[in-house]
Parts: sequence; C-alpha cells; structure tokens
Amino acid sequence: MNIYSRPWGTISSGETATLFTLVNDNGMTVEITDFGGTIVSIKTADRNGKLTDICLGYDSLSDYEKADGYLGALVGRVANRIAGASFELEGKTYSLYANDGGNCLHGGKKSFSYVIWKSETATDNDKATLTLTYFSPDGEEGFPGNLTTKVTYTLDNGGALAIRYEAECDKACPLNLTNHAYFNLAGNASGPVFGQILWLDAESYLAGDKDLIPVAVKPVDGTPFDFTEPKPIGKDFFVDFADLRMAGGYDHCFNFTGWKKCKSGGTLLLRAVACDPISGRKMEMYTNQPCVQFYSANFLKNPCFPLRGGKPQQTQTAFCLETQTMPDSIHHQGDESFTDGVLRAGEKYDYTTVYKFSAE
Ligand code: GAL
Repeated sequence: MNIYSRPWGTISSGETATLFTLVNDNGMTVEITDFGGTIVSIKTADRNGKLTDICLGYDSLSDYEKADGYLGALVGRVANRIAGASFELEGKTYSLYANDGGNCLHGGKKSFSYVIWKSETATDNDKATLTLTYFSPDGEEGFPGNLTTKVTYTLDNGGALAIRYEAECDKACPLNLTNHAYFNLAGNASGPVFGQILWLDAESYLAGDKDLIPVAVKPVDGTPFDFTEPKPIGKDFFVDFADLRMAGGYDHCFNFTGWKKCKSGGTLLLRAVACDPISGRKMEMYTNQPCVQFYSANFLKNPCFPLRGGKPQQTQTAFCLETQTMPDSIHHQGDESFTDGVLRAGEKYDYTTVYKFSAE
C-alpha cells in the first residue's frame, strides 16, 4: 500500500491544494484532493486486468473550483436541498444561501465542497488512509453551531474504498454528509450508463416537486423505481411515469429496506451493487446510512467544463450513489415517515460508506 502527494495548484484565496494518490498492491489507484475532499479519479481493473478511470472528473484544480456538479466532492453541511433556504430549529429561524432557485443545495455557497480540508496520511500492510478534517464555525453558511468534521478515506488490498464521516457540534444543527462521486464502470466519459446493471435494497423513494423538493414517501413496488431485482439503469428510464419525468430521470432519495433501524455508528449492510456486463467491473456499496440519492447525472451538460481528457459533459454518462439521510428532513421534524437529520450537542455523527470494486 502506498500514498503519494503532490502540490496541485492554488485556489483563488491563495491557498495551495494537494493531490493525494492512494495505491493498493493490485494497482488500484484513487486520487483525492484536499480541495473539497474531492475524489478526482478511481482506476480499477476490468476482468482482463486493464485499469481504467471509472470516476468522472476534470483535468485541473481551477475547473473544480469554478464548476458546478460537485464531481467527486464531499458535500455538507447538508446534502441535497433545503426548501426555501431556511429552516427553524429549537425555536430559531436560520437563513441559508439560496443557490438552486430559492432553495439551498449541497450546503450553500462555499459549503464543504469548495474549501481546503486539513489532511493527514498513514499506511500499513493492508491499508492506505487519508484523514481530512474541517472546522466550520457557528453561523458559517447560516448554520448553527461550531462543527468539527472528520472524513477518513481508506483504500485496502481487497479493492474497497471506505469513507467514514464523523462529526460533533456544540449546538443542534441539521447535518447530512455525503460524497458526490459520479461512477461509470465502463470508464470516465465513455457514454451513457443505461446498460449498467443496478441492484438497490430500497423499499421506498421520495417523490419530489418540480424543484426536486421531496413531497411524499412512496413504495418502489411496481414502479420504475423498483431496483430490488437487478436491472439495467436504462430499462425503465424513459417510462412515462410522472415522478420520474418530473426529475428528468433518476434524482431521488431511495430509502433502504428497514431504514428506520439504521443509525449513526450502526452495522454496515450491503445496499447496492452495480456492474458493467461489458468490462465485468462490479461495485458493491455497504453503508449504515438509511438512504441513498440515486442520481443519473441529468444535469451533467455544462459546456464550459469538459471532463478529463477534454471530453464533453453528457447527461446520463454516470450514476451517483450519495448515501445520506432524507433531503429536506429539517422541514419534516417529528414526522415518523422521515429521517431525523439533526445532530445535537453531545451526540456523535458516525456514518460509513464503502464502495468495493472487483471484476468478474
Ligand atoms: C445531486 C442532486 C441533483 C443535482 C446534483 C448536482 O445530488 O440530487 O439534483 O443538484 O446533485 O448537479
């Protein structure tokens, strides 16, 4: 196991970013920068041992700083949308930055995705670890409480990339941390992922309004949202089903079977498997989070920011599996059909998601 690091350029604040390269004994390589804690690339072998980058990204730090899309980024304090960019908690009203129509998306303006995190590295015989920490002061981006967040990326010799999210805050604060990697198991910018097979252990999904704010919890049974039997992502993609068409594809929170039992510090369960029948690449996802935002990259079409190698952005050429609690749950406090989503003073936030790669 090895970790290398090199300076990766300077952001507009004058701070220098570092690019870390984690390599396992089989040559699997993961590049992560401390800017936004962003996964820049993941090179994994196909069934013939050929390494390909299966994680979408840009060529330069400056693209990561200017672009939208959150490619590979850590997302916080609150992943996805907070309706109306404001919320009430314990009798106080908090105003956030509205960066998605009138709503707050992925934590606001700078959020956790556009700042430099503090870093530390370690290796042993079987693991390479990059630990990132970020201190967000009370009131940053409008959120309450001094919040300390630690994210630990670990690559092992079994092909697993684990991401552990830990946090503590001195006031009650909504918190929903995730990573926004865009996967295409056939390779970065290699075309639509419609033929890649997905299994999701999800019993229900959140239907959204036109601004993608959740409005109802619905069972997946009998709908295009049913991935409880593995099926190609494209199989039901174009079906005339209102909840799907409203979002222009999959961009929904899927609630895992028995999600109410999932909790911070809980056992990791296998919740998703994706595979590419052509290359044989497979990705298993284990997590103790209750939900995942399955996003089929419907907004991936910004002509100003070509992907690595100068390839144009193209919708549905990747899928994201952003493990999390339910979006906008801060507006459903006390509603048993929603997750809680608030970290209170004295509590420990501790969730882990593992993406494990292999080929068959
Ligand atoms: C996803 C979200 C999408 C879109 C995307 C970023 O997490 O569900 O609606 O905002 O991030 O482009």
